[in-house]
Amino acid sequence: MYDITPIHTSRGCLSYIVADPVTREAAIIDPSQEAGPDAYGDILKEKGLELRYILETHTHADHVSSARELRGLFGGKIAMHESSPLPSKDIALADGSTLSLGRGTIEVLATPGHTDESVTYRIPGAVFTGDALLIGGTGRTDFQRGNSTDLYESLWQKLMRLPEETIVHPAHNYEGRTASTIGEEKRENPRLQMEKETFIAALDAHHPPLPELFDTAVPKNSN
Ligand SMILES: [Fe+2]
Repeated sequence: MYDITPIHTSRGCLSYIVADPVTREAAIIDPSQEAGPDAYGDILKEKGLELRYILETHTHADHVSSARELRGLFGGKIAMHESSPLPSKDIALADGSTLSLGRGTIEVLATPGHTDESVTYRIPGAVFTGDALLIGGTGRTDFQRGNSTDLYESLWQKLMRLPEETIVHPAHNYEGRTASTIGEEKRENPRLQMEKETFIAALDAHHPPLPELFDTAVPKNSN
């Protein structure tokens, strides 16, 4: 029902434009300042889309969000989980919240673990998983109130219960991919082959270097 346009921004970050081609209503997921407003604006203009929502999957630590800039330029309401720190969000989401877009609905699944306010956006046939579920990986859990046990439960109690053919669009990929499926991840994602205790221990021990923009991105995306 919806058209999906992925946008590679920088350092493997991904944004998406989701649009109903009939009613021409659109949502942008996880926009990044580094892409510049035209990366989004040109597509909106080209396709004659009206921006209804700017959706963040979580408070990003690796890029500065352009949600407020895009809201100023193109309209639309910023939606994030209710416990995200951003004071200027227009819509506070919780597990099970729905947003109507064109002829359909976007459903919100709370998928905490990478951060405590991470959500997945579900549309017919696809999910936008943020950093909860990546292609062949998951987000880290060692800052922004991340929690490895919560991430395990989000993966297995929410995402892995979706139909296997559900398309997965993550917030990051470093190999140029923008899509996988629940079935592919269930079979091939190394972190989904682990027993619960092993998964928690592995994530608890996983402290890669902080993202390059961490000191800038977190305060800017939170205030
Ligand atoms: Fe993240």
